Amino acid sequence: MMKEKTNVLIIGSGGREHSLGWKLKQSKFVDNIYFIPGNGGTKLLGENISIEKNDFQKIKEIVESKNITLTVVGNEEFLVNGIVDFFYEENLPKKNHFIFGPTKLASEIEGSKSFAKNFMIKNKIPTAEFFIFKNFSDAENYLKNCNYPIVIKANGLAAGKGVAICNNQFESITTAKNYLIEKTLGESGNEIIVEEFLSGKEISILAISDGNTIKPFLSVQDHKKIFDGDNGPNTGGMGAYSPIPFVSKKIMDEVYNTILVPTIAGLKNEGRKFCGCLFAGLMFTKNGIKVLEFNCRFGDPETQPLMQLLENDLYELLMSCSDSNYKKKISELDFKFTNKYACCVVASSNGYPNKYEIGKEIFGLEKIDSTTTTVFHAGTKFENGKFFTNGGRVLNVVSLGNNLNETIQTAYNEIKKISFDGIYFRNDIGHCGLK
Ligand code: AMP
Ligand code: GLY
Repeated sequence: MMKEKTNVLIIGSGGREHSLGWKLKQSKFVDNIYFIPGNGGTKLLGENISIEKNDFQKIKEIVESKNITLTVVGNEEFLVNGIVDFFYEENLPKKNHFIFGPTKLASEIEGSKSFAKNFMIKNKIPTAEFFIFKNFSDAENYLKNCNYPIVIKANGLAAGKGVAICNNQFESITTAKNYLIEKTLGESGNEIIVEEFLSGKEISILAISDGNTIKPFLSVQDHKKIFDGDNGPNTGGMGAYSPIPFVSKKIMDEVYNTILVPTIAGLKNEGRKFCGCLFAGLMFTKNGIKVLEFNCRFGDPETQPLMQLLENDLYELLMSCSDSNYKKKISELDFKFTNKYACCVVASSNGYPNKYEIGKEIFGLEKIDSTTTTVFHAGTKFENGKFFTNGGRVLNVVSLGNNLNETIQTAYNEIKKISFDGIYFRNDIGHCGLK
């Protein structure tokens, strides 16, 4: 007799979570999907449940009452605040309620940039040179005598606002003062990392691990700046495509051997076994590949094209990392990807990443050609049979195609069918892959 299907919970509200849900819904093992809190699009895949921020007890109640076998954490804040530790303290995995994501200690690879930098030095993982300062006058002395540009990073989580590229002494000293004295980022800026500026091509590698073995997805490139040509302020990401033509098998092997494997082994050695998705933000410099940052979760929007390309059953992959007694180990599973390209263009609200309005009706979703394109929702809500904008990044239009050029064109043809008051998107997503 076939085993009963299982239920899944996804924590988060972005396009990343919608795409993970979309992929999990296709699993032969998955029945119902729940989202905390989800968005307008995830409502069509399952049930959205809203809770007070970080109400772990409530999550436990939902996991038990809805009989959830696998909880997938999209958002770093829950991880850094110890949601995985909470599951283990409450013995949930012993009761068949598993969770995909690293513990609080392992999440420090994202939650504390000073930990991550020192860890990389200790484990000989290539990264930009740096100094760490807690005291403003020490930082000021250093900044008066260094070369520019230079990069200043707040130690803690800052929702993408903790990195400043400073072109001169005035900018750098103002930034250091803002973080260390004015506390513009609160506790996250109690310590700063002053880092060598690296130039080159930037890519993301996402890889999943059970703490022992790590397996990467295809290479993927995000577009962080708001305007075409990588201009303007940083955003959460305005689009992504995969795979990247200039990332060869040889490069992927190098990333695997010099970055992914030593990171997982180093974390395990320190008693910080990492089960979950490790996200390495990398720069291809003239002196080799260097790590810009690690994240302890899936990337957004990187996950959206990757979920389109992945052929494996995602439930099986995630369970092989989360349940040590699962019938298959991650080391025994081969990743399979369709031999295509995926391109994701983000539609945002006018004004994002600064001030923007919400509550605008979204039109044209029914015109999308579903044979080539999937629309994942991010900042949307569904009310009385209509979709409305509800955030800065609103929709992710993801197309599949046989070559990158055609895929990009399809994504743009499709996104132009959608409209809402103030819709904005970049016009050059993926172009760096065509050069
Ligand atoms: P992070 O949150 O550390 O990834 O930084 C956000 C963005 O800042 C990165 O995606 C890069 O585009 C840029 N960045 C971070 N560190 C450096 C660096 N050392 N040199 C140049 N750009 C950087
Ligand atoms: N796309 C970058 C991130 O998820 O942090």
